[in-house]
This record gives sequence, C-alpha cells and structure tokens, in this order.
Amino acid sequence: MKPMRVLITGAAGHVGSSLVYRVAAGDLFGLQQPVILHLYDIDKMLPELQGEMMELGDCAFPLLKDVVVTTEIDEAFGDVDVAFLVGAFPRKKGMERRDLLEANGKIFPAQGKALNDYANPDVRVVVVGNPANTNCLITAKNAPDLDPSQFTALTRLDHNRGIGMLASKLDAYVSDITRFTIWGNHSGTQFPDISHALFKGKPVSELIDFDWYEKDFIPAVQQRGSEILRVRGMSSTVSAAICTIKHFKSWYYGTNEDDWVSKAVYSTGNPYGIEDDLYYSFPVTCDSELAYSIVEGLEINEFCEKMMKISEQELISERDIIRDLL
Ligand code: LMR
Repeated sequence: MKPMRVLITGAAGHVGSSLVYRVAAGDLFGLQQPVILHLYDIDKMLPELQGEMMELGDCAFPLLKDVVVTTEIDEAFGDVDVAFLVGAFPRKKGMERRDLLEANGKIFPAQGKALNDYANPDVRVVVVGNPANTNCLITAKNAPDLDPSQFTALTRLDHNRGIGMLASKLDAYVSDITRFTIWGNHSGTQFPDISHALFKGKPVSELIDFDWYEKDFIPAVQQRGSEILRVRGMSSTVSAAICTIKHFKSWYYGTNEDDWVSKAVYSTGNPYGIEDDLYYSFPVTCDSELAYSIVEGLEINEFCEKMMKISEQELISERDIIRDLL
C-alpha cells in the first residue's frame, strides 16, 4: 500500500508533537495504512525536531515508513496528501488581534503557495494555528490551483467542548448528544448552538434552562481556550491534537448517520446567508471519502441569527485587516 504523506507544521510545538506520535501510531488512517511524516518548523526548533525523529525511531511504529525533518518549505510540502497547519505566531502579552493577524500574515501566504506548487494536487488541509479561520482563508487564496473545499479550519475542538459540557449538565454520555453546532469563528464570538441538538432523540433545548444556556454555557464554550490558558499558563495541547485527528477522520471516513460535525469551510454558496469568501464554521456531513456538504434546511431562529451574524462580522473585519494578503 502506498504510504500517505502527512505534513505537520509547527511539529516541534505542543500541539504539533502530540499529533506526530498519534499519526505515526495509525490514529489517522487505521492500522493498515502506512504513513510518511513530514515535520516542519522554524530553524530554531530544528534540535527539537531532530529529537522528535529519534524518539519516533525508538517507538518502532510499524506503519511509519519514513520521516522527513526539514525547515525548507519546498521539501516539507512536497507531495503531501494531508497538511495539518499547526505552526503559527503565538499571541504575546499586549498583542491585539490585529497584530496577531498581521504576524501570521507573514506565514500563511508562503504555505498556501507551497501547497499549490509542491503538494499532491488532491491534498486536504486542516488549519489549526490561530486565528485559524482567517489563516485558512489566506492559505487557500494563495493556492489558486487548488479548490477552496480542500481547505478547512478546526472548530471540532469547540464542538467537542460543547458536547462535553452538555453531557455533564444532563448527566449523560457524550455519545447520547447529536446535532450540536458551532457556527462562525474559532474565537470568543463563535456561536455554540443547541437549537437542533438532541439528547437520545429529544430536543436538548427542552431539557435545559435557556438562562443557563445563554449566560453560562455559551460563554463557557466561547472562552474555554482562554480559560485553559489562564488555569495552567499554556494553551490546549492534547485536546487540540485529538480534535484535529477527529476532524480529519470525519472528513475521510464520513460522519455518523443522523448527526453532523462542526468544521470551518468555505462559505461561498452556503445556504444560511453568511457572507461569501470566508472560512466559517457550519454543521457539516461527510458521506464519501474527502467530500463534505453543509447541512441544509435548518430553521434559524432570531436569537441564533443574531449570534451567527456577530461571528460573521468578526470574520469580515479580520478579512479586512489582511486583505492585501489574499
Ligand atoms: C483553544 O481553543 O484552546 C486554542 O485555540 C486557544 C489558543 O489561542 O491557543
């Protein structure tokens, strides 16, 4: 079987290295499919990458056929089938969102061009590095020969956070909750929507108090990343890596019947009136290998519409800041 080439940028960082060992172990494509890892990071991280390569060797993963460790973009992106774009300029104290967007603006155009020029033309891309939705837009726009549907950004972490919190509130199993949605940006404006969510087939909205939903649940999901950072002085690591793998697996193997996942995808032509030309998180089903569709026909009430628009507006203003990079 031909190995799948999987690129991880920022491979020496906390999320990147959590991904590296899981992909090598077969978590992405199962226990038959060989993989070749492409580990890419900036020059100063080279010793970490080399150490990671030594440890990968020590694990003797049977599916891992080769490891390409490099700080050269053409080598890193060469022939890759899957690209996890994790590395991004981290937010530092005192930085505004605009500063972060501009700093990352230097990274993602080059990665889009490299995907365009060197990757497998059928590559699938998951952007994890923040601000993920707008970084995804920059990347896709700099890869004009690829289709915008080959690019996605991670909101599965938010989706799973929401399901976890609902399950805890309802004293239920996470597997009993379906049709939960994250709309919008992976940021404090994202909208965790329970209006279509079901618990064992019953509407979740009939089981919980709207006041709790609005005042506790929504801000808790929106702020979970910042809260983790506040509590332990470091952003989410393993949960981000695991949800990145779950995001890709839903895309590759398909979503469960009667359920969907949240994923930031290209908004042009979406059925909910969200502005075109953004990467916006929608409820999405995947039913054949590496294809997805935005779930159609969901009724959107006034509250939901207002919340969806707030996140849309934030994405539009992010796009305005980096327009010269598109
Ligand atoms: C998260 O949601 O945990 C992260 O995206 C937060 C961050 O800024 O790293």
